[in-house]
Amino acid sequence: MDGPDPGTAAGHRMPPDIFKLREMYRTLNKSCFILGASGETGKVLLKEVLKSRLFSKVTLIGRRKLTFENAMYEDVIQELVDFEKLDDHASAFQGHDVGFCCLGTTRGKAGVEGFIRVDHDYVLKSAQLSKAGGCTHFLLQSSKGADATSSMLYPKIKGQVEAEIEELNFYRYSIFRPGILMCDREESRPMEWMARKVLAPVAYMFPTAITIPVTVVAKAMLNNVVLPSEKKAELFHNKDVHELGHLGETKEK
Ligand SMILES: NC(=O)c1ccc[n+]([C@@H]2O[C@H](COP(=O)([O-])OP(=O)(O)OC[C@H]3O[C@@H](n4cnc5c(N)ncnc54)[C@H](OP(=O)(O)O)[C@@H]3O)[C@@H](O)[C@H]2O)c1
Repeated sequence: MDGPDPGTAAGHRMPPDIFKLREMYRTLNKSCFILGASGETGKVLLKEVLKSRLFSKVTLIGRRKLTFENAMYEDVIQELVDFEKLDDHASAFQGHDVGFCCLGTTRGKAGVEGFIRVDHDYVLKSAQLSKAGGCTHFLLQSSKGADATSSMLYPKIKGQVEAEIEELNFYRYSIFRPGILMCDREESRPMEWMARKVLAPVAYMFPTAITIPVTVVAKAMLNNVVLPSEKKAELFHNKDVHELGHLGETKEK
C-alpha cells in the first residue's frame, strides 16, 4: 500500500480547494457512523463531523449511551451494541456510506487478551459488518509504528488489523497512523501523561515528529473524506496526518 507523496498536502500536488469539495460533498447526502465516539479522538471527531455538516445522518455505534447537552447533537443516532455479540447487531452497521473507527483500549487497562479483543477482534468484525452493510469508505485510526511483523504486541496487532481490513476490499480504505495523541485525557493513564509532559517541548519544536493533537487527527479524517483519491487504500503517517488536518486552515481563521 502506498502512502501519500512526502512534501505534498498529503498526496495532493496542487493545494485542493477543500471548501469547494466540502460544499460538493454536502450535496451527496451521505451518512456515516463513528465507533469510539466517547473516546478522546472520537468525541472531537464527532464534534467536527457535526460542525462540518458533511453528512445527512450521523450514527454512533458504541457500548453505552452518551449524553450531550448541546443542541448540535440532537439528531445524532445512537446504536448500542454488545461487542461480544456483534453478529446480533448487524443491522446497526447497515446503510452507512462512511465508517470512522476510533475504537481502542490499552494493554494496561484490558490486559493482553482484552487489548487483542478490542483493537483487533471488535475492529475487524465492525469493519466486516459495515462492508456487508454497504459502507464504501472505511477510515481506521491505527497508530504510528503499526507493523504486522513486529515482535511487540501493540504494533503487531495494529498492523495485523490494518492488513486484514484491507483484504475486505472496501471501495475506499484510509488508514491513519498518528503519533502520541496530545489531549487532556479524562481517564488517568500515568505513563501516557508522563510521555505527553516529557514530549511537550519536542511537540513544540518538531510538531509533526512524534506527537499530534487529537483535533488534527479528526480534521484530517474529515478532509480525507471529501478529497478524491485514485488509490483504493491510503496510508497516512503522522506527518501526513498533520498536513491533511491543517488543509484549508488559514482561510477558515
Ligand atoms: N493514546 C495514544 O497516544 C495513541 C496514539 C496513536 C494511536 N492511538 C490509537 O488511536 C485510537 C483512539 O485512541 P483514543 O485515545 O482517542 O481512544 P480512547 O480515548 O481510549 O477511547 C477508546 C474508545 O474505544 C471504546 N472502547 C474501549 N474499550 C472498549 C470495549 N471493551 N468495548 C467497547 N468499546 C470500547 C471506548 O468506549 P468507552 O468510552 O465506552 O470505554 C472509547 O469510545 C486507538 O485505537 C488507539 O490505540 C492512540
